[in-house]
Amino acid sequence: MIKLESATVIQEASSLLKQGDVVAFPTETVYGLGADAHQESAICKIFSIKNRPSFNPLIVHVLDINQAETIGMIPKSAYPLLEHYWPGPLTIVVPKNPKASLAPSITAGLDTVALRVPAHPTFRRLLTIHQAPIAAPSANASNKLSCTTASHVLASLKSRAPLIIKSTTPCAHGLESTIIDFSTKQPTLLRHGALPLEIIENLLGPVVLGNHKKTIKAPGQLNKHYAPDLPLRLNASSPRAKEAYLNFGPPKAEETLNLSPNGDLEEAACNLFVMLHRLDIPEHYSGIAVAPIPLRGLGKAINDRLNRASYKENTPS
Ligand code: TXA
Ligand code: MG
Repeated sequence: MIKLESATVIQEASSLLKQGDVVAFPTETVYGLGADAHQESAICKIFSIKNRPSFNPLIVHVLDINQAETIGMIPKSAYPLLEHYWPGPLTIVVPKNPKASLAPSITAGLDTVALRVPAHPTFRRLLTIHQAPIAAPSANASNKLSCTTASHVLASLKSRAPLIIKSTTPCAHGLESTIIDFSTKQPTLLRHGALPLEIIENLLGPVVLGNHKKTIKAPGQLNKHYAPDLPLRLNASSPRAKEAYLNFGPPKAEETLNLSPNGDLEEAACNLFVMLHRLDIPEHYSGIAVAPIPLRGLGKAINDRLNRASYKENTPS
């Protein structure tokens, strides 16, 4: 059920989490489907509601660096980044703190843990009242489009989430967090996301690009991910018959929607999932054609999501 945020609703959400249930809430990236990170049976509910493979670990969300240190062993080299971009759309992977009492399924058998300090005020109010870390993947059925509105979450998860919190503060970035692995010798990018790689490299120096195909380190980086029901055709300069056309840049007569008429990549990232949801109507269209998106800044994360969304199972990888 969708409920507009209020003090009572946040209290209700915390009670649900305490009793081992799950709750969906907005973050500054996309909606999350959260459970109390100490309760194994609650974490298992997340995997079953999303139909998520158990080998795909979850991100643990906390209020600040101090709380993060109780869960993960954060290396010194990560601090300049955390001091600048936490709270924010940045996730780090670090060795687990042996003293942390996390539900085992969160880390899917790995000895590392993914940590994020979110900035969205609704989520922060929930974390504050709840007083315990909250593990949360994106609130969408596994391999489907991520959600940036409460009604998209309802459409994706149906009644399987007992409470979906709606907020007057939007999911401003509209794309998942960037994931950097600090458990490796050199920081390694595991997922392009809302914090552009260039910004991270300005602080840390060169970051190694993770090999998504070989590594089980970010199983969420499966080739097919974030997929709409309709087929996607990328780098399309115009639509074919019956296709919807998702344009980027100067408007064209044949466009159905435009990610950013001014060619602003931040605006395009924010619109990406919302517009894909709006166009994903098999009764109206035969497919979605997407205009080319430049491969710089946030364009890398946008292209990453589009490539995975258009991946065909039988394409050799
Ligand atoms: O913006 C976000 O990151 C959103 C919001 C809700 O915080 N969350 C999100 O979660 O996108 P999810 O589960 O959809 O993606 C998390 C990614 C997955 O690809 C998972 O494999 C990876 O993080 N991950 C989690 N723990 C990991 C670990 N210990 N090592 C490597 N990758 C990990
Ligand atoms: Mg996800």
